[in-house]
Amino acid sequence: MKTVARITLKAGDILGEDIISNHGEKLYSKGTKLDLKALDRLARHNIMAVTIMEDIDFAETHTEKVKLSDGFKTFKTAYYECVPQFRRIIDNCVIDHVRPPIDQLLGIYVKLASLAATGNILLEYLVNIPPDMENMIYEHMLNTGMIASVFANWLGMTKQEMFTFIQCGFLYDIGKLCLPKELIYKPSKLTDEEFAMMKTHTTLGHDLLVSVGLGGTISDCALQHHEKGDGSGYPNHLKISDIDNFAQYISIIDAYEAMSAPKTYRFPLNAFEIISNFEKDVMKYNKMKLDAIMFHIASTQMGLHAKLNDGREGDIIFINNLHCARPMLRDESGNIIDLSKEPENIQIYALF
Ligand SMILES: [Fe+2]
Repeated sequence: MKTVARITLKAGDILGEDIISNHGEKLYSKGTKLDLKALDRLARHNIMAVTIMEDIDFAETHTEKVKLSDGFKTFKTAYYECVPQFRRIIDNCVIDHVRPPIDQLLGIYVKLASLAATGNILLEYLVNIPPDMENMIYEHMLNTGMIASVFANWLGMTKQEMFTFIQCGFLYDIGKLCLPKELIYKPSKLTDEEFAMMKTHTTLGHDLLVSVGLGGTISDCALQHHEKGDGSGYPNHLKISDIDNFAQYISIIDAYEAMSAPKTYRFPLNAFEIISNFEKDVMKYNKMKLDAIMFHIASTQMGLHAKLNDGREGDIIFINNLHCARPMLRDESGNIIDLSKEPENIQIYALF
């Protein structure tokens, strides 16, 4: 809701509060849609300011509220300014083998992070940026670096560690841009041969980053982000103890970003659907690292109102750290719904 000068009102505006005249008479009730006659009456009663509803007041889901917030609109504008700048830095590296300037990369991080009051809000903003096919890979890396900055805070990293971690996120998938466009943007399923070529983005990215002087953790993240803890990953089928510490996290963020981002073919998965998918794949990750991240992701949802697929609903009041995908809710009548004790087919399908 916002309070505006009466002279700026227009027909169709909806009152956010009752309007009481200077003599104490109730002129209109909250929720009234103003018409020309009503505007005239307000003028005659010398009403100076009026509170009206905004689009955000009519938003139903949590996502709709985020999208309609002024903060998100400002963030989205800045994000779209950053994408071409980020793309130029990455293209200069891929095409001309220019080392990505750290100050410029971190400048992008600072610009975007400063527009979100908290890490949780930053995550919310990122998942609500509409997908842009033209810049898909660049945005995926940009988002991964930004998500890395939030995770770094959750994990208590030092500033220096965080800056390295952000660069790992910004650059880890750069090898994809060394491959033919027809391959990386192919809309249909890849053939076995094409998939084998796609897998080479790990080694290509690693070699490129080493060649521009970014060896060590940053290039290891490019090389190892598709390795899985159970040895089922590529290119070297490493076991968890052989995978770089940051690469283990980048692998989690890579999957998180893919699940949380809106796709042209589906809405983003909600936080609990994402955690549930991770819990099914726990063998592929470092369990301790995964648990820490999942608990934080689940905690960002505390207090939201959840609707279940069986019609029940309630506020999220407790995150079970042994089963983060299954929080506890309290319904309108005060009854507790402990999802960790409910059948698996009972799911949260919307958050408000
Ligand atoms: Fe990748």
